[in-house]
Amino acid sequence: MSNIGSYEERLQGFDWSIAERELGYRAGDVINIGYHCSDRICDLGHGGKLALLWEDHQGREKSFTFDDLRVLSNTIAAFLVRLGVQPGERVCLFMDRVPELYIGFLGVLKMGGIVQPLFSAFREDSLATRLKDAATSVVITQRKHLPVVRRTREQLSSVRQIVVVDSEGAQLKAGEVALDLEGEPRVEAFEVFPSTAETPSVLHYTSGTTGQPKGAQHVHYSLIAQYLTTKWVLDLQSDDIYWCNADPGWVTGTSYGIIGPWANGATQAVLDAGFSAPRWYAFLQKYRVTVWYSAPTAIRLLMREGTELVRNYDLSALRHLASVGEPLNAEAVLWSKEAFGRPFHDTYWQTETGCIVVTNVPGLPIKPGSMGKPFPGITAAVVDLKTSEPLDTPGSVGLIGIKPPWPSLIRGYWNNPTGYANKFKNGWYLTGDRASKDGDGYFWFVGRDDDVINTGGHLVGPFEIESALLEHPAVAESAAVATPDPTNMEVVKAFVALKAGHDGNEDLELEIMNFIRKRLSPLAMPQKIEFVASLPKTRSGKIMRRVLRAQEFGEPVGDISTMMDD
Ligand code: WT7
Repeated sequence: MSNIGSYEERLQGFDWSIAERELGYRAGDVINIGYHCSDRICDLGHGGKLALLWEDHQGREKSFTFDDLRVLSNTIAAFLVRLGVQPGERVCLFMDRVPELYIGFLGVLKMGGIVQPLFSAFREDSLATRLKDAATSVVITQRKHLPVVRRTREQLSSVRQIVVVDSEGAQLKAGEVALDLEGEPRVEAFEVFPSTAETPSVLHYTSGTTGQPKGAQHVHYSLIAQYLTTKWVLDLQSDDIYWCNADPGWVTGTSYGIIGPWANGATQAVLDAGFSAPRWYAFLQKYRVTVWYSAPTAIRLLMREGTELVRNYDLSALRHLASVGEPLNAEAVLWSKEAFGRPFHDTYWQTETGCIVVTNVPGLPIKPGSMGKPFPGITAAVVDLKTSEPLDTPGSVGLIGIKPPWPSLIRGYWNNPTGYANKFKNGWYLTGDRASKDGDGYFWFVGRDDDVINTGGHLVGPFEIESALLEHPAVAESAAVATPDPTNMEVVKAFVALKAGHDGNEDLELEIMNFIRKRLSPLAMPQKIEFVASLPKTRSGKIMRRVLRAQEFGEPVGDISTMMDD
């Protein structure tokens, strides 16, 4: 039986207080995500239950019970307190998907710090931008990432300490300290910081069209929505083995890769290894995964390998599949029915929304290709692009707007109140995504309303790439736009105008690609570079990325009346 019953039943009289009651929370109480994901599960008598089943690319395995989570997150919290970290300070987690990342996340929250998880594939410039903006004081990392963190730190004044979780054999320097989680004395009792609903918790960086990435500030009360959406949409129950293959450097990996599942007392399996279809199927089989939260890019990669491969594995434990990050096309839903005997359920949300907001909740018939309907407790509408008035005619395309507040809406962008204020219009939080709604109230995704590039479910901001491109000695001007890609939906393409005396040849193309990969990340690296004499601009000199994007997608260019003709 699913947790949700019929969609209509759940809509009737829905109130977020359902989640508050189940979590034992009343307005004004202390609420701490670190505590709720570990100590509370132990208090309920499940301390001996497995919380984390972990495996890496070399096949090394580790497992942790909820009591281990409790004690080891205490250990990290106490360690940070000894280092002098104060509540409210930013502590960055810069690690692969090792157990220390998951447990460290809870530890930082337990001592009242703001946890800033960053994707470990980021290189110096991407890391520096985010650490600088947040004025982060401590970075917890692994030995393999120490060179990047050290070089980054040279550009920053805020980072007081680098904590290395596997320092054996490393020569640590001043301001670097070792934390061997399993070797440290276990801290049985730790006084959890008495955070309340609005106390800042997680700071995730997300990209927009303009300016550097923005720090999306979550609060401890987000737990209310993350807990209930996990229970109802991902349908987690007490005997499930759950796998979320997202990295906690991105919001899916924290909201639904740490907070939601553990607050529900569920057992999670984590694979710290890159994509490989046989490896993934073997992992699903070995741990008898029952609920799997994945993404369209991964599904497309699996589709490429065919259904025969699936037949070599016993995946009979799988009972519920969900997807997020990009449009889930109808073919992928139909393929998964054929391959796994069940459809992927699309879930739509953002870093800013903190929780799933529009979705194919179990109990609601799926229309393949549609994102489904608003989660109970979420009021979503398609609003007019200009007036932000809800559009009632079925099929009309507008922006997805969500009525504030809801528990996990971010409370601001770090250092950027104007950017945050601009997200609200006419009483709606505007997602910046375009969609339409059909006569049955199902939402259909159309596309983003800005220039952000969605590559394999990861958002990349054009500004960050263009700024890095300008640092290359041959580049005079550039525009980074999305170009279609069969696997990743979109990848980055850079249009580059060169300075006099430089020749746009293949060597230079490769050199520029590498330049970006080394400074930002493989995600931000342009897969294609086109050298051009000039870029399309408005009369006021703004580069018109959408003209280039439209060309790439073979779409009409739209209104170019403001374009400068040269
Ligand atoms: C953007 C948010 C929130 C989880 C992962 C990414 C796109 C997300 C869907 C979906 C079509 C989707 C949107 C959104 N997106 N889910 N089911 N169908 N597009 O979080 O990095 O903040 O990205 O991802 O464009 O705004 P994020």
